[in-house]
Amino acid sequence: MRVLGIESSCDETAAAIIVDGREVLADVVASQNDVHAKYGGVVPELAARAHILNVVPVVRAALDRAGLTLAEIDGIAVTNAPGLSGPLLVGLQTAKAIAWTTGKPLIGVHHLEGHMAAVYLEPEPPPMPHLALIVSGGHTSLVRVNDHGTVIELGATRDDAAGEAFDKGAKLLGLGYPGGVMIDKLAQTGDPKAVKFPKAMTQSVHTAEFSFSGLKTSLLHHVRKHGIPGGQALSDLCASYQAAIVELLVRKTRQTVRAERLAHVQVCGGVAANSGLRAGLRAAGAEDGFRVYIPPPNRCTDNAAMIAAAGYHRLMRGERSGLDLDAVPSLALPRAGS
Ligand code: KG4
Ligand code: ZN
Repeated sequence: MRVLGIESSCDETAAAIIVDGREVLADVVASQNDVHAKYGGVVPELAARAHILNVVPVVRAALDRAGLTLAEIDGIAVTNAPGLSGPLLVGLQTAKAIAWTTGKPLIGVHHLEGHMAAVYLEPEPPPMPHLALIVSGGHTSLVRVNDHGTVIELGATRDDAAGEAFDKGAKLLGLGYPGGVMIDKLAQTGDPKAVKFPKAMTQSVHTAEFSFSGLKTSLLHHVRKHGIPGGQALSDLCASYQAAIVELLVRKTRQTVRAERLAHVQVCGGVAANSGLRAGLRAAGAEDGFRVYIPPPNRCTDNAAMIAAAGYHRLMRGERSGLDLDAVPSLALPRAGS
């Protein structure tokens, strides 16, 4: 089964074609970083307009790369929730138009379900059940994955997402947007012990919740007191700030994997590309005896191969979306106890 995936929930226009939920024939991403960089964050209306310009060329490029025509596609998967409403609508209307003209089945995909499906494209995907740590620009959650499409969110962030903590920190340090990558890069030559940040959420041992706003405030106080450093001191500050974010993510993941009695953990979303988090979780897994699965960095950030992978599993279960499928800007994953 050849599935065309389309993703446009934020600032990446992406299309991909995968076969039987495993083999990636094409994976095309058009980033809008240049459009939003001067504003220090994503401007929804500009994002929607850029998606309109990019979506047809990106779908066409994916078909060309796969050497296929639309008639040879067996299903269309599209992100319909959550995300920015204008950007979501562009991908959704494109997917609906393709489904309508080709008569092929359409399936709507939750963006976070897509992130969790990225790792299923890897040679050794995690077995079920497992724990998923989702760390993106808009979300930070720990999710119990019982099976494809059967997930329970155990806890999420109370305030900022991990990606926001990186991006807002980077903005404060004048590092540009999106800042996660810049902090990661500078941190690699810095001393993570140089600046002490307070340890977050030390009381909430048994919850899968996160909080990053205090950390951001600590960085603000540090910058107000000492100014923005340059050279090695900037690398040291980035390394220390990154280490504090990673410490909380790793500590909560360790506690939750133990509480849920699981042995496999996947990490997904843009922040899963962070070198400190990748190393920190692998070290924790080796120490505590759980196995860690992380997609390559380009499949951690937004892409359409992950949407096609998640859509494939839904289509195989016989699920279909109607042409009345709507964009839902805010839609939580199923929560524990609800
Ligand atoms: O998953 P994603 O592409 O979009 C959302 O669904 O939000 O995640 C984007 C986020 C941004 O906050 C970006 O700064 C962060 O992922 N990010 C990183 C790295 N690469 C991307 N954060 C830390 N280190 C990185 N290497
Ligand atoms: Zn995302």
